[in-house]
Amino acid sequence: MLYYPQKQHDRNDNDKGGKDMRSLILYYTYHGNTQRIAERIHAAIGGDIARIDTVEPYTGDYDDVVAQGEREVKRGYLPPLRPVDIDLDRYDTLVLGTPVWWYTCSPAMRAFLTAHDLSGKTIYPFATNGGWLGRSIRDMRALCPGAAFRPGLDVHFDDTTQRTPDADVDRWIAAIHD
Ligand SMILES: Cc1cc2nc3c(=O)[nH]c(=O)nc-3n(C[C@H](O)[C@H](O)[C@H](O)COP(=O)(O)O)c2cc1C
Repeated sequence: MLYYPQKQHDRNDNDKGGKDMRSLILYYTYHGNTQRIAERIHAAIGGDIARIDTVEPYTGDYDDVVAQGEREVKRGYLPPLRPVDIDLDRYDTLVLGTPVWWYTCSPAMRAFLTAHDLSGKTIYPFATNGGWLGRSIRDMRALCPGAAFRPGLDVHFDDTTQRTPDADVDRWIAAIHD
């Protein structure tokens, strides 16, 4: 069990011994697009899947959330997150998914990566967006020092309509673990 906001450093090797190392798909979604891709990945590769969520839900209409997101990104705000019932030590491969918020990863994903030490893990990042990926993947990479970062996936949506073909998504999924 992870509790926020402390940083998880302690890797208990005794505890790890004998356990299968599995992959974990971890994502944040506000509107459901990132969740949809996360679930497609999960259906293909198995392992575990978990959602990052903020303690305070984003409220108001879409424009309100876009405006709040802009303020948060500009300030580098890290929203408090709900505890996620996962033990990161059990995983050597992480698939991390976020929507793009103002040309970077969502504040919720930034808060998660800031709070946890993922060094030694292999990370496959993906970002869903409305057409402007910006520096999202690069910023996620910078937040994961010591991790092996694999090429990211950029999935374009118009609102909730996926524009990036499933075949492109599936090609990226097929390279996981290669
Ligand atoms: C606060 C906010 C900021 C956004 N900023 C961008 C952006 O900079 N570039 C972009 O292409 N899409 C942007 N979008 C659109 C989302 O990235 C896109 O709709 C994404 O697929 C939503 O994922 P979700 O449904 O998992 O929340 C933004 C959306 C919100 C709510």
